[in-house]
Amino acid sequence: MTLNSMSLRSLDMPAESEPELLCILGTGDLGRSLGERLLQSGFRVVYGSRRLHGGSPLLSDPRVTSHEAAAQSANIIFVCVHREHYEFLATMRNHLQGKVREKIEKKQQLVPKAAVVKGLNTLSAWALQNGLLAGKQVYLCGDSAEAKQAVAQMATKLGLSVLDKGSLSAARELEDFPLKLFPEWRLPLSVALGLTAFFFFYLLIRDVIYAYVEKKDEISYRIMVSLANKVFPIVALIMLSLCYLPGAIAAFLQLYRGTKYSRFPNWLDRWMVSRKQMGLVALGFAFLHVTYTFIIPIRYAVRHKLISRIKKNKTTPFRFDNTEAWGTDSFVTLGILGFFLFVLLGITSLPSVGGSLSWREFNFIQSKLGHLTLFICTAHGYVYGWNKFLLPSTYKWYTPPGFMLCLIVPSVVLVLKGILLLPCVDRTLTLIRQGWERTQPK
Ligand code: HEM
Repeated sequence: MTLNSMSLRSLDMPAESEPELLCILGTGDLGRSLGERLLQSGFRVVYGSRRLHGGSPLLSDPRVTSHEAAAQSANIIFVCVHREHYEFLATMRNHLQGKVREKIEKKQQLVPKAAVVKGLNTLSAWALQNGLLAGKQVYLCGDSAEAKQAVAQMATKLGLSVLDKGSLSAARELEDFPLKLFPEWRLPLSVALGLTAFFFFYLLIRDVIYAYVEKKDEISYRIMVSLANKVFPIVALIMLSLCYLPGAIAAFLQLYRGTKYSRFPNWLDRWMVSRKQMGLVALGFAFLHVTYTFIIPIRYAVRHKLISRIKKNKTTPFRFDNTEAWGTDSFVTLGILGFFLFVLLGITSLPSVGGSLSWREFNFIQSKLGHLTLFICTAHGYVYGWNKFLLPSTYKWYTPPGFMLCLIVPSVVLVLKGILLLPCVDRTLTLIRQGWERTQPK
């Protein structure tokens, strides 16, 4: 079943005091759930059903009437029926004439005179019933700007965040959207896979193959834990920084253009939309890193190395190096703090938690605490390598170690953020975001 269409008989506003009346064609799960949600959001609802004597629990409801009668009484019409039943729309042409509707191409052919807006089809009955709508992104497309605006206003009232996908020619893409498997996760998962593969082979060559070729040392066992415990935090840190890079790019674009009203390029839009998923994937990798780190002491190779060292040092007492101790304690502390904040970010990005926060609170956690998390995790990487940067033996086969490479993107993001925080830059950006526009010299 899809939630596809809506129509407006005319765009005249209803009497001021009276809540707007909306029509839902279809009394199945989706129609009912949508109706309840709309009622809770302050709308009036009338249902149209093709089987007035059928078995739907709603049919005893006085608001349920025939398709035609329901469509006649409301301006906006939602079509909540399986697509194989769309044909009934053709019989209702007269009732839909002149209305604005959410659309797919097929539906437009059936009711050519209605203004059709396609969208909301990514909403499920389950999400509607459980109120999981806050901030959820929905796409709209349609040829009538007025119709789209009417639908967008209604969707915003439901707590949804609306993204305009342009004209009806985008309808096919929206129609396919719910059929795609985890569409929002595709980009973050591809990035994670690409980075993991790259760093795995990079570190395999530097750590395992290098040792074998140069020192005849067979340490392939390190692939399982040591190498994995380098790849995972490296991917986690890069992906965390990739959550904040598009925001910085967008801010610089706005500063350059001197307005917030021109659209970002599509690739930037796509990137921004997948930031939450990017962050959650990064958190997953950080979890793996932490788990691997805590099993280090129980590893056979580590215990063996420790015992050999103790045996070797029997006669010479172990010298305590205060600087080394400060270094390791600091980097582990930064790791723990960074991980704590990272988990906090992950939890607040969940709809059930994020929905209970005000926009200001959500923004504070995701932006301010987010950048602090990135800063601390990056510092964890820098302090980890503090005594390795100038060591020639670090650069095996003239290549930098993985942790140095993974510090590049986060460092760039933090520098960009630092520039954006400069009072003169911040002031201009705030003005632009409040709607101020820099007039172009003619
Ligand atoms: C490396 C501990 C959280 C990023 C390390 C290492 C330890 C460690 C012991 C050295 C591993 C080795 O010698 O192979 C911890 C602890 C954490 C934590 C105890 C929290 C409970 C994080 C987080 C991030 C991170 C949240 C970033 C998202 C890194 C990076 C490295 C590293 C990039 C360098 C990996 C390499 O050897 O190439 N951490 N860490 N860590 N950690 Fe963490």
